[in-house]
Amino acid sequence: MKPLIVANWKCNPVSLAEAKQLFDLIEKGIENTEGAEVVICPPFSYLSIINNQLSFIKLGAQDCFWEEKGAYTGEISPPMLKNAGCQYVIIGHSERRKYFNETDEIINKKLKAAIKAGLSPIFCIGETETERKNDEMEKVLKNRLLNGLKDISQSDILNSQFSVAYEPVWAIGTGVACDFNDALGANLFIKKVLSELCDNSTVQQIRILYGGSVKSANAVDFIKKAKMDGLLVGGASLKPDEFIGIIKAVIG
Ligand code: PGA
Repeated sequence: MKPLIVANWKCNPVSLAEAKQLFDLIEKGIENTEGAEVVICPPFSYLSIINNQLSFIKLGAQDCFWEEKGAYTGEISPPMLKNAGCQYVIIGHSERRKYFNETDEIINKKLKAAIKAGLSPIFCIGETETERKNDEMEKVLKNRLLNGLKDISQSDILNSQFSVAYEPVWAIGTGVACDFNDALGANLFIKKVLSELCDNSTVQQIRILYGGSVKSANAVDFIKKAKMDGLLVGGASLKPDEFIGIIKAVIG
């Protein structure tokens, strides 16, 4: 499996012109991504425009609703994302939990709806600083995984090209990335929990990504030392040189 490098633009930039410029700079800077799968997750309103410009870069969304359609003001459904050209969708990001009160139950519904629509979910889990200090990292990761994946079959996990992003909340946007050894520990623990739900060949097909203050200087170590199958990049994905640097470092 190629490493999966995902740009999460979050609520940026504020204009379509800036979004196009950012995309163009990234695309020109990479030229080809044979050694990695690169996905850009812009805000919803830029999806279609960026879809029209896509070449080797793939498109993802930052969230989705759990129903297909209906009277749900303000929501965007998985089939809409699929029809807008998305292949991936980030689900359960800690900012969704923090600012929009998303619970494990909501995230479970979103994961099921995304899989049903044929999207590949990038399921985010991670502990807060307090949970880490209280030595609760494993407990939190296990609960998130078991609750998030409740009643999702092994074949759905396999066929959807599901990935799990380990994103320690204290490392997101802080400039303080997780220690490589700790990230390796989290990676192995996530695989251990997944092996309670799926057989080994399926677990090997689930990519485990790291996210939280990734930059060009630390990217390759998360792949090599922490044995991650990819990266979820926030702040650095808004800086073309940094994001290009991350991809180049990973593909070598
Ligand atoms: P960051 O964000 O790279 O800015 O820390 C990562 C994320 O939130 O996915």
